[in-house]
Amino acid sequence: MSIIEKAMTRHGPLEPGGLTLMPIEHEAAASAESLIEKAAKKQSSAEADRVPVAEDAPAEARAGDRYSQLGQINLVKLHKAGMITPDGEKSQIAEEFRLIKRPLITNVFNRAAPVKNANLIMVTSSLPGEGKSFCAINLAMSIAMEMDHTVLLVDADVAKPSLPGFLGLKAEKGLMDVLLDNELQLCDVMIKTNVEKLTLLPAGRGNRYATEMLASEAMSRLLQEMANRYRDRVIIFDSPPLLATTEARVLATHMGQIVMVVEAEKTTEDQLQDALAQIESCDVVGLVLNKGKALLGTDYPLYGY
Ligand SMILES: Nc1ncnc2c1ncn2[C@@H]1O[C@H](COP(=O)(O)OP(=O)(O)O)[C@@H](O)[C@H]1O
Ligand SMILES: [Mg+2]
Repeated sequence: MSIIEKAMTRHGPLEPGGLTLMPIEHEAAASAESLIEKAAKKQSSAEADRVPVAEDAPAEARAGDRYSQLGQINLVKLHKAGMITPDGEKSQIAEEFRLIKRPLITNVFNRAAPVKNANLIMVTSSLPGEGKSFCAINLAMSIAMEMDHTVLLVDADVAKPSLPGFLGLKAEKGLMDVLLDNELQLCDVMIKTNVEKLTLLPAGRGNRYATEMLASEAMSRLLQEMANRYRDRVIIFDSPPLLATTEARVLATHMGQIVMVVEAEKTTEDQLQDALAQIESCDVVGLVLNKGKALLGTDYPLYGY
């Protein structure tokens, strides 16, 4: 049995018709550039100083969203890095994340068989460099492009935050500041972006105890607040690697769903088993095979819950 098959038997059967993430071709980048620039300009000119908020949003959320900051995602840069951009272009990566997001969204909005805190989704992996941030951004972008779903993307790899770099925007205050400063609210540091339904919660000011703070009581309260207050919002956490810090495991205990990124031909069976053992508290775990062809000896793409 391959590492993936074994992992699946622990966490549930592998569904047929999954997918494999592969680096996409970049030749199209130049020609698509002007299109994306146009889309970016259009969106930014349409942004008002004050962010429009749904009429039926809870009062607290409305007040919160209204004062969040605005930030410009560099869509050209994102496209060049092989990520999904909201220009409607049919790319392989967009197709792949269409499949990845579907079961996650279904769980968030399934009122018949609710999954606790289903809107809190952590993207994680065993080690650095396996593609957590890449997948978290693509997942967030893919969900935000749907009509009905708003997404909050949280940079929870607080020791090595990389989302502002990938997105090409500046972020100063964030999660850490909210945990440290009682006066600060989430809405003070969230950045509303030029992708209409996508908001970013940056990691915030780095400090020596940043990762430890993920396992703090204050973080636990904040996560519960996020799960309840933004119940209809999909909240995606880009997390630290599970085998590098113990705090990622504590973060995982609050999550309704976890996406485990496995790097093809790199993540070993032992690493994956160890990482899965860290997140046994979460009932809904999906695996994404990143950066490669199928490990199963066939061309069959792989993704499973
Ligand atoms: N499927 C992919 N296709 C192309 N580049 C990828 C893919 N997955 C990851 N990368 C790139 O690999 C590098 C490491 O990925 P990253 O998401 O930063 O890893 P992690 O967050 O797990 O440390 C980044 O430069 C990222 O852009
Ligand atoms: Mg990362």
